[in-house]
Formats: sequence, C-alpha cells, structure tokens
Amino acid sequence: MKKITKAVFPVAGMGSRFLPATKASPKEMMPIVDKPLIQYAVEEAVAAGITDMVFITGRNKRAIEDHFDKAYELEAELEMRGKHELLRLVREVIPAHINCIYIRQTEPLGLGHAVLCAKPVVQDEPFAVILADDLIDGPIPIITQMVDVFRQHPCSILGVQNVARDQTRQYGIVGSTPLEPDIEQVNGIVEKPEPEDAPSTLAVVGRYILTPRIFHHLEKVQAGAGGEIQLTDGIAALMREEKMLAYRFKGTRYDCGSKLGYLKAMVALGLKHPEVGGEFAAYLDGLE
Ligand code: G1P
Repeated sequence: MKKITKAVFPVAGMGSRFLPATKASPKEMMPIVDKPLIQYAVEEAVAAGITDMVFITGRNKRAIEDHFDKAYELEAELEMRGKHELLRLVREVIPAHINCIYIRQTEPLGLGHAVLCAKPVVQDEPFAVILADDLIDGPIPIITQMVDVFRQHPCSILGVQNVARDQTRQYGIVGSTPLEPDIEQVNGIVEKPEPEDAPSTLAVVGRYILTPRIFHHLEKVQAGAGGEIQLTDGIAALMREEKMLAYRFKGTRYDCGSKLGYLKAMVALGLKHPEVGGEFAAYLDGLE
C-alpha cells in the first residue's frame, strides 16, 4: 500500500464572500488570531506525515508563495534586533523537509478542475485534499485521523459531519450505510441538493483522501452549473468503481468561508491562545 505523501490545497478561489478584504489579498491569508488559514491547513498535513504540499493557485495569490518562502530581509532584521522569539516563529512557518509546489489554475473552472491540475505532480499515488477555509479543530488533526483510517482501509475517504437538513444545499451530501463506528460505506453523493432531495444529512467538509483513479474521472466530468467541473461528480463516478468510505471525524469545524464561521473560529482559537486567551476570556465575560 502506498503512503500518503502529498496534499493538494485548492487556493485559486476569489473569496467573494469576504470582499473587500479579499480584493487584493488571498482569502487563505486571512488570519485566525495570528496565523493565516492556509498555515493551519499546511500544519495539519505536516502533522499527518505529508511532505509535499501542492497549491493550486491563481491570480492575486502570490502572498501564499511568499508566506511559505524564506524571508531573508525580515529574518536579517529580526536577528539584528535580537528578536529571537519572532525569528523562531517566522522560521517555523514551514519545516525544512517540506516541499512546496505551486500550480496555476488559469481559469476558474471549479474544485474538480483544481484537483485535476495536481495530476502531473501526484501521478499514481493516493493523496489528500484540504480546503483551507474549513478550519477543523480536533483532539487529533483531522488528516491524521483520516490517514489512520486509510491504513485500515486503503481506499478513498471523505471527511463528513452531520448538518441541519436545511443546510444540505451548501454541501456535497453522501448516501451511505454504517460499516464501523464513525465509518460509513458511501453508495451515493450529490452536490448541494435541496433538503427534500438530499439522501441524508451527512455533509462532505473540506477533507478528502482520494485514489489517483479520481483523475481519470475528473478528465471526463462535464462542466455543470456555472461552467464548473465539480469534484463531487468525479467522486460519484469513482464510487461506482472503487470502494469509498465516509469518516465522521472527531473535531469542531468552522466554516471560515462564511463571516459567521470565521468569527466563531476567531473566538474559539482566541480563547485557546497561550498569549491572549486568558485576557480575551475575561473581556468576553465582561461584555453585556
Ligand atoms: C465544496 C464542495 C462541496 C463540499 C464543500 C465543503 O463546496 O463542492 O461538496 O461539501 O466544499 O466545504 P464550496 O464550499 O466550495 O461551494
């Protein structure tokens, strides 16, 4: 069985729900307390033993490349001023053994197309897909949990959670049968169904482990609504051919693609922050 060494981060999206904040800078660079969303996502992959980070980028996304690059001038300046703690923070953004690979998605053709752009790098290995705007805070990082499931069941695995029925139109929704505690066998998947058409309320959130056969299917998927190639359509075709599981991960997910989810993440992680958590809790307690 092949080990999972590559993670794909689709980061070419416009971030229109956060305009004007995202007019000139990527939504993935928006911070939760003091780290950008994309750094949480990369740290999750690093924790799972993944070494190759494949970013599918687009226009206005240079800041992501700069963030994971060495910052000579900044480091020299911090060193000169004796700011050793800050220097450590800057240097630890990405461990030395990690490779960052950037591929431009030149047209906004959807999530499925973004994943397909990773094919030349991923080739014939199973790989992870992480959507940085789904920030998941768990006792064990979510991709680590999913890689553990993959060791037992070497097949495609979708990270899922239950949502309210009136929210099904925001997610890919799976139809499934229970296999083990927290693990379901997937037998259907629909992108953003109306509540009355949804096969269940189990929603795919932004964590996937996929076998390389997905590329074959994504190459054949026809563009759907809005001219986009949906990852869900590729997954539906893959599911008809290979075993596929849904895994109910342990952790709290914050939809940082929405303003409310972003605010909730900021409060939750702010309260846990070693430097400001205590004072922030006292401040929140004092609010009317
Ligand atoms: C995408 C996927 C959807 C999935 C969701 C998770 O939708 O198409 O299947 O449930 O991510 O966040 P988006 O949020 O990009 O519209």
